[in-house]
Amino acid sequence: MGRSWGSVAEFEGFLDAGGIVEPVDAMPDEYRQHVFRFIELHANSELMGGLTERDWIPKAPGLRRKLAVLAKTQDEIGHAHLLYMVAADLGVKTRVEMLEDLFANRGRFHNVFHYQAVTWADQVAIAYLVDAAALISQQAVFKNCSYGPYKRILRRIVAEEGFHMRHGEEMLLVFAEGTAVQREMFQAALDRWWWPTLHMFGPPSKPDDALLRWHIKSERNEDLRDKWVQKYATLLTGYGFVPPDPDLRRDPESGRWVTGEIDWAPLKATFANLGPDSARRVADAARHWNETRWVREALESVARRAA
Ligand SMILES: [Fe+2]
Ligand SMILES: [Fe+2]
Repeated sequence: MGRSWGSVAEFEGFLDAGGIVEPVDAMPDEYRQHVFRFIELHANSELMGGLTERDWIPKAPGLRRKLAVLAKTQDEIGHAHLLYMVAADLGVKTRVEMLEDLFANRGRFHNVFHYQAVTWADQVAIAYLVDAAALISQQAVFKNCSYGPYKRILRRIVAEEGFHMRHGEEMLLVFAEGTAVQREMFQAALDRWWWPTLHMFGPPSKPDDALLRWHIKSERNEDLRDKWVQKYATLLTGYGFVPPDPDLRRDPESGRWVTGEIDWAPLKATFANLGPDSARRVADAARHWNETRWVREALESVARRAA
C-alpha cells in the first residue's frame, strides 16, 4: 500500500523536506498531471531525436561513425521506451495512447527536434551542443526530482547522454582542427543550432512555476541556460567559431558571458508543432508506426494464442 497525505499542504511539506513519491502513493491530481506531462514530453523528445539519428546511419562518414550513430540511435529509442513505461505507470495515458497522440500531431516534443539536420556538421552540432544542453537539464532534474521512478531512470539516461556529449566533442575537434571547408561547415551548422539550443531550456521560469514548486525540476530555466552559455561560448570562441549573436559579450566586471536578447517566436512556433521541419518529422514517424503495425499485430496474436 502506498502512502497518503491529509492535505496538499502536507504533501508539499513532504516534498519540501526532500521526500520521494512512488507510483503507489496517493498524490494530488495536479502533481500527477504535471509529472506525467513532463515525462511524456521527455519520452516523445527522445523518440523524435532517435528517429532523426537513425536517418544519419547510412549517411555517417565511415564505419566508425556509423557504429557510433547506430549506438546513439539505440540509446535514444531505449530512453524513449523507458520513459514511456514510467509515464504509463501514472495511469493518465497508456504507452500506445502517448505514441498515437504523437503520431497524430497531438503530442509535444522539444523544439530542437522541429528543425532539419542539413549536413553531417549539423549532426556534430547536435551531439556537441544539444546533447550537452539536454544533459545539463536532465542532471538538474536527476539531482532533486521528487518522483522516484523518473529519478531512477534518469541515472541511466544521464550516463548515456554523457557518452553522446563526448562523442560530439570528439567530432567537433575533427572539424575544428580540419580543413577550411570543414570549419565553414561547422560554422554554418552553429549558425543554425545556436539559437534553438538556447531556446531548448525554455523561456525564463515564472515565479510560481508548478514544476519547481512540486520539486519536479530544481533549477530555473534561465539558470540552466546560463550554465550552458558560460561553458559553450568559451569553448566555441576558443576554437575560433563565432556564435550567431552580434550582442554576445563578456561582462567586463564579472567576466561572464551575456547573450543578446532572445527572440522567443521560433520556440513558440515549435510549441504548436509549427517549426520549420515539424510536419515532415511527425509524418515520417507516423509512417514508420503504420508500416510496422503488422509486427505488433503478429506479436499480439502470438501472445493471445499462448494465453
Ligand atoms: Fe537520450
Ligand atoms: Fe542523446
